[in-house]
Amino acid sequence: MRLTALAVAALPLVKPTIASFQTRGTSNIPQYVYTYAPLVWLYSTDPYRPSDLQAQLDNTTPEVNWTAVAGAPSPLKLDNLDQLNALGNTSVYLTTSGGIAQTPQPSWWDGITPDSNGRTGNATGCAIVIVDHGAGKVDAFYFYFYAYNKGDIVLGLEFGDHIGDWEHNMIRFVNGTPQAVWFSQHASGQAFTYNALEKDGLRPYAFSANGTHANYAIVGQHDHTIPGLNLPAGLLLDYTDKGVLWDPTLNAYAYTYDPVTATFASDTSASYPVPWLNFNGQWGDAQPVGEPSIFGEAKYVAGPNGPKFKSLDRTNVCPSTPCIMLPFRIWAEAEAEYNMTT
Ligand SMILES: *[C@@H]1O[C@H](CO)[C@@H](O)[C@H](O)[C@H]1NC(C)=O
Ligand SMILES: *[C@@H]1O[C@H](CO)[C@@H](O)[C@H](O)[C@H]1NC(C)=O
Ligand SMILES: *[C@@H]1O[C@H](CO)[C@@H](O)[C@H](O)[C@H]1NC(C)=O
Ligand SMILES: *[C@@H]1O[C@H](CO)[C@@H](O)[C@H](O)[C@H]1NC(C)=O
Repeated sequence: MRLTALAVAALPLVKPTIASFQTRGTSNIPQYVYTYAPLVWLYSTDPYRPSDLQAQLDNTTPEVNWTAVAGAPSPLKLDNLDQLNALGNTSVYLTTSGGIAQTPQPSWWDGITPDSNGRTGNATGCAIVIVDHGAGKVDAFYFYFYAYNKGDIVLGLEFGDHIGDWEHNMIRFVNGTPQAVWFSQHASGQAFTYNALEKDGLRPYAFSANGTHANYAIVGQHDHTIPGLNLPAGLLLDYTDKGVLWDPTLNAYAYTYDPVTATFASDTSASYPVPWLNFNGQWGDAQPVGEPSIFGEAKYVAGPNGPKFKSLDRTNVCPSTPCIMLPFRIWAEAEAEYNMTT
């Protein structure tokens, strides 16, 4: 993978990438998945950039109830991570030595800033997952991984910092034509028609919010809600701008997911590690014991689980209902307001 990736590094950003480059003949990942893949604008001053999946394993210890899991595979690799399911299942947390509150923070939380080609060096921080629903309907998920999520600040209080951060776009294709794009944002998100989106050529832009990495379709500031706490609009803000452009497909693993058997498989032109996709545990520390909370919201919260828990076999473009398809980007703010009341 690395050699192929290097070979395409000099190509312009919008060109098809890794899996589409030399190996198209044997790949079962459709070319259009790369042709229309999102490009991600990272926030200009966000210190927390995309991160390497294996680095998360290298820098953490699997723990259950703050105790190292006995008999865990060592070293922990993307191709043995699922063995932790039998040793604690969803209670397993990939835990950082020194904890989430340490200062200074470990440098690996910063991830890798993409270079001028949009590449994150040798760090693989994206997983593309294709779900073929038949009858020409194909969902392409683009999962983005960051080592650290910095929460937003409300009235001087900070909420929702966690280690490990999974975000995604999903593009729904019908007969190879992109119809709609899902943007994950905190516990929810937004759906747009493909035509509504700002693009570089054929590739839509996603704007990754400062710290939280919630994905938006436009630059600016975005209100969002704390689930269960109806704050007035404007208190809890995400910020996006055209900071650093990341082309996630340049450092991506690619897979198929069969929704009938719930099984993942590598792109047939490569042998990408699969077992990590079956890991049922969490990609960061558990919430610290005794962590204070206000209205049920805490500064430090638990790390998230992985792509298999993001409704891969979804009927609508949104993982849940209602699913409003926005035909204009300018409606994004109206939709954010709508989400606050439903
Ligand atoms: C977690 O560990 C603490 C301290 O060792 C212990 O008191 C508690 O019972 C454990 N909780 C569970 C659910 O095992
Ligand atoms: C492990 O977690 C998965 C995902 O939540 C669940 O489906 C499965 O039943 C759990 N297995 C056991 C043995 O509890
Ligand atoms: C990836 O790049 C970093 C920084 O250039 C280097 O330290 C590391 O050894 C490389 N890792 C691999 C697996 O090549
Ligand atoms: C972006 O996040 C950094 C730290 O994570 C913070 O210092 C900065 O103020 C944030 N910018 C905005 C506009 O919130």
